[in-house]
Amino acid sequence: MEKVLQVKDLHVSFSTYGGEVKAVRGVSFDLYKGETLAIVGESGCGKSVTSQSIMKLIPEPPGKIRSGEILFKDIDLIQLKEPELRKIRGANISMIFQDPMTALNPTITVGEQIMEGIIQHEKLTRNQAKRVALEMLTLVGIPNPEIRLKQYPHQFSGGMRQRIVIAMALVCRPDVLIADEPTTALDVTIQAQILELFRDIQKKTGVSIILITHDLGVVAQVADRIAVMYAGRIVEIGTRREIFYHPQHPYTKGLLQSVPRLDMEKGELIPIPGTPPDLFSPPVGCAFAARCPHAMEVCERVYPLKTQLSTQHHVDCWLQDERAKNLVPTLV
Ligand SMILES: Nc1ncnc2c1ncn2[C@@H]1O[C@H](COP(=O)(O)OP(=O)(O)OP(=O)(O)O)[C@@H](O)[C@H]1O
Ligand code: SF4
Ligand SMILES: [Mg+2]
Repeated sequence: MEKVLQVKDLHVSFSTYGGEVKAVRGVSFDLYKGETLAIVGESGCGKSVTSQSIMKLIPEPPGKIRSGEILFKDIDLIQLKEPELRKIRGANISMIFQDPMTALNPTITVGEQIMEGIIQHEKLTRNQAKRVALEMLTLVGIPNPEIRLKQYPHQFSGGMRQRIVIAMALVCRPDVLIADEPTTALDVTIQAQILELFRDIQKKTGVSIILITHDLGVVAQVADRIAVMYAGRIVEIGTRREIFYHPQHPYTKGLLQSVPRLDMEKGELIPIPGTPPDLFSPPVGCAFAARCPHAMEVCERVYPLKTQLSTQHHVDCWLQDERAKNLVPTLV
């Protein structure tokens, strides 16, 4: 499988009055051509910071990418300067956010806004750009695109606005689309339509998608692979089937039991006790140890090594590691 993006040992932190928040602490993953990789995890675990780092959109200061590599077509994006990054943003890698209104300018017609990206990156004439804009509105399922092109954002419903934002993100045919909670602000039926649209667009364009969400229902519908983040690290990654049917990390298991899914009976939800650790001074060992029903003495002392369970399935947990036996004198 062709890798379009490789994130290697990414570390990102923020300087605050309280000290340094170590938001992302050694995240590595590959993104393959044409796949949807979902990133899931509790609030504050570093999903948005990871995705914003790929676009170098971390506010600096207070943020800082401390170390790591983000390889796109063999170029390390971390090393690029702002003018080079600007060429890549939108044209090769684009991003959409939770609230479509923040991405749209209320005073400019949606046609102009979609065309802006093409004119900027592809140096087309206005007529050519208009043709592409019409194609895009059709691609994202907006009826009467000729008329709609001349309208302003407030003339569209929330779901339609998100479709326009998606059209804007796709207008230059990017290789990678990063969507941070793209359906959270929408009601359930519209949410389903937007997810369907993502699938449809992926089939037509072959774009690779990084989808960040709290919602495991959304993940179940669209993800090919799932990365589970906890306290700034990916603790488990695997195919959708591996994560949903054979989760191995106690945190992944907890997460699956704590959020509603279609196949669950009422009353089956079991919240994960406790809260994530403070990221000013994260634990040296497994950050989940304080909440983990299986924690062993070694867990608090040493961060677990990555165990490979299949070609795609990796987990950071001592329970999966043969070497733990030699390291574990007593159970806590
Ligand atoms: N500008 C900032 N200044 C200080 N700390 C920040 C800043 N942005 C993010 N952080 C911290 O980085 C950590 C990771 O935040 P991030 O926004 O990536 O979480 P998330 O997983 O996207 O959460 P959510 O699901 O709530 O969106 C958090 O502890 C957060 O407080
Ligand atoms: S490493 Fe230890 S504490 Fe962490 S999840 Fe595995 S068993 Fe639990
Ligand atoms: Mg977020």
